[in-house]
Amino acid sequence: MSILKIARMGHPVLRQPARPLESEEIAAEGLASLIHDMLETLQDASGLGLAAPQVHVGLQLVVVNIPPGNENPEFAGMENGVLVNPVVTPIGEEKFRLWEGCLSIPDLMGEVQRHAAVRVDYLDRTGRLCTVEAKGLAAAVFQHEIDHLDGRLFVDRMDDTRKFSFVKEYARHHM
Ligand code: NI
Repeated sequence: MSILKIARMGHPVLRQPARPLESEEIAAEGLASLIHDMLETLQDASGLGLAAPQVHVGLQLVVVNIPPGNENPEFAGMENGVLVNPVVTPIGEEKFRLWEGCLSIPDLMGEVQRHAAVRVDYLDRTGRLCTVEAKGLAAAVFQHEIDHLDGRLFVDRMDDTRKFSFVKEYARHHM
């Protein structure tokens, strides 16, 4: 059990595509301990999601802590969620804009455009194939975390750098 060091923007690990896990790796004890540490690190940092490359591990593994919200009556939230080899597919054409932050880009926020609704196919920590559908903030969290597995950060999704702000200024001027 330990809090892991989070890689910050500029570290090459955040820009390398992560590789999928094999089924025998999912069953391995080492993975269970990595998942445990990632969940603990996410909780310690009060984040919504954390991808393995953010803790210097180039594997397609994401943990999320998404509170239930009323925008998604059919999505009850995903607390201590673990997604292995996740694949995101947009549902419909609709997009929306929201302000995002990232544990690898501390103290900064930016406005990005995301698909309004997505389906995510993934393996759970036992290797079972699962599917979840989400809208709004929850959909954005999945897209943000799965972007990390492709070496992409939210700043790459920004089309207006004037909407790049420190958290304090965001709270004062943009909320
Ligand atoms: Ni992030």
